[in-house]
Amino acid sequence: MRTHKCGELNTQQLGETVTICGWVHRRRDHGGVIFIDLRDRAGLVQVVIDPDTEATFAIAEHVRSEYVLQISGIVRNRPSGTVNANMHSGAIEILAKEIEVLNESETPPFPVESDIEVNEELRLRYRYIDLRRVAMQEKMKVRRDVTRLLRNFLDDHEFFEIETPYLTKATPEGARDYIVPSRTHENAFFALPQSPQLYKQILMVAGMDRYYQVVRCFRDEDLRADRQPEFTQLDIETSFMTEDEIMNIMEEMIRQLFAQVISVELPAEFPRMSYQEAMSRFGIDRPDLRIPLELVDIADAMKNVDFKVFSGPANDPKGRVVALRIPNAGDKLSRKDIDELTKFVGIYGAKGLAYIKVNDLAAGIDGLQSPIVKFAPAEVWAEVMTKTGAENGDLLFFGADKANIVNEAMGALRVKLGHDLNLIEGDWKPVWVVDFPMFDWDEKSGRYNAIHHPFTAPSCSVEELVANPGSALSRAYDLVLNGTEVGGGSIRINRPAMQQTVFGILGIGEEEAQEKFGFLLDALKYGAPPHGGLAFGLDRLVMLMTGSSSIRDVIAFPKTQSAACPLVSAPAVVTDEQLKELGIKLLKPAGKDKA
Ligand code: AMO
Ligand code: AMP
Repeated sequence: MRTHKCGELNTQQLGETVTICGWVHRRRDHGGVIFIDLRDRAGLVQVVIDPDTEATFAIAEHVRSEYVLQISGIVRNRPSGTVNANMHSGAIEILAKEIEVLNESETPPFPVESDIEVNEELRLRYRYIDLRRVAMQEKMKVRRDVTRLLRNFLDDHEFFEIETPYLTKATPEGARDYIVPSRTHENAFFALPQSPQLYKQILMVAGMDRYYQVVRCFRDEDLRADRQPEFTQLDIETSFMTEDEIMNIMEEMIRQLFAQVISVELPAEFPRMSYQEAMSRFGIDRPDLRIPLELVDIADAMKNVDFKVFSGPANDPKGRVVALRIPNAGDKLSRKDIDELTKFVGIYGAKGLAYIKVNDLAAGIDGLQSPIVKFAPAEVWAEVMTKTGAENGDLLFFGADKANIVNEAMGALRVKLGHDLNLIEGDWKPVWVVDFPMFDWDEKSGRYNAIHHPFTAPSCSVEELVANPGSALSRAYDLVLNGTEVGGGSIRINRPAMQQTVFGILGIGEEEAQEKFGFLLDALKYGAPPHGGLAFGLDRLVMLMTGSSSIRDVIAFPKTQSAACPLVSAPAVVTDEQLKELGIKLLKPAGKDKA
């Protein structure tokens, strides 16, 4: 139907008669001459319709935005002064000879211009219009380029792409399961996989050596800008590789990905940082290293002060007292700003946000401006100034509470101020976070949770693990890019005794372990090789690479914040017959509680 795509035409085709197909992006009537910008996936081209070509002109007079046209015409130079250097086809235009309307269009619910803000619900409801927008087409292209490059890289490195089931059993990755009733097995349900974790481990036991899969994962969890209920992982597993070998090959893959798809040179070696260091310096296990601000522990200095807010947590083994120095911010942040920031840290449970304006260090305590300086003697503040490296003009913020509250609140404050005050340094800062603890203690349920997942190997023996589960480290690693966790994995447990031990520490008894993971425990008995791997969040990678603010923008058909699809109106009620066939009775009859 066409000889060329709209957006690929340029001066190379000068004088040629071409046929193009596409959508009417814009139509302008310039008193006697009609201009149509025709758009296809390759971009836009300007078409001119002269009144001399009477029949064609008559058709052009009636076309509207988003009509689908086939146009034949001659490629010619645009008149001087009308060249558009920002467009690939900006030096030429097509003088139309014939136009055929392939289809009409109703007025679209919103314009297909990229830079017009449109309510997201509406965009998702009419996703086929939204995806026509140039910005969305570009994102889909980057996504295509990303999966193509990743597949090529892994194919070249002898990985096999192997599919694993979607109808399966619960896979614990910390979220709720989506479950699917089974018609043929009464009262039994499948679970959609939160990840292919157990299948890929079993593929290693099966001698597949290196596996990957671009795979959908399903997690019923609270949604955020970087979380979807179904999302795509690049899932990887290898046998006979150490964590260093795994991290090195993955680093190489990510470097090639950024270089080839978006022409970004990532560092030749990604830094590695322990979990402990990340928490201590940044309050978070996925630090954005572009922000040059750090938390500084000052509990030692605050143990004996007369200010309970600080001395309490300073003397509590689970407490933390930190200062966050913001260089030269003394004049930049007003009282009102600080009040706003106090509300902000309140979201994370902080009960306040103490601060000091450093006016004149030479004047000692008199040079410090703050409602809290009176609560501690001069030498304490002198120590704080030294520890934080404070200089005249700086602003210091303080957080004191249980360590987890201080970490969350002050970690978030660090990121917020980094952005708000334009302190970001550099474009891309990857870091591997390593040496995670195996478990964290959940006060509420009074038991340990796996920090990665229960199949992650500890870096100690069974005996050491049993003796000290709380301080054991795991062989897990996360890849963090600009404050986003883009991937994570670990060396796995490959011996039944260790796996049983970890289940035991997690409060999963032998019977439960057998029922839930008996197949894994069995497989580990039959010569399971040392193995390990990781999974990248493909949507998150593409989100970062395209500079998108949400992963919804890089997924063709994402779910809304409430985990629904406005395009097809899913989830939806099902018929009584279907329910009956499945042996399911609803607590609230269908229709009465439709979302
Ligand atoms: P994990 O749970 O860390 O590990 O997931 C791996 C990566 O997947 C991405 N991700 C998500 N992306 C979008 N929406 C979500 N709801 C979501 N949840 C996770 C993140 C994350 O780093 N089986 C292990 C991997 C392994 O050990 O090999 C796993 O799934 O970028
Ligand atoms: P108060 O004596 O409670 O009025 O607090 C004095 C100052 O300390 C105020 O600036 C509060 O915002 C701040 N503050 C109170 N609680 C905390 C806390 N847990 N961490 C940091 N600063 C706090």
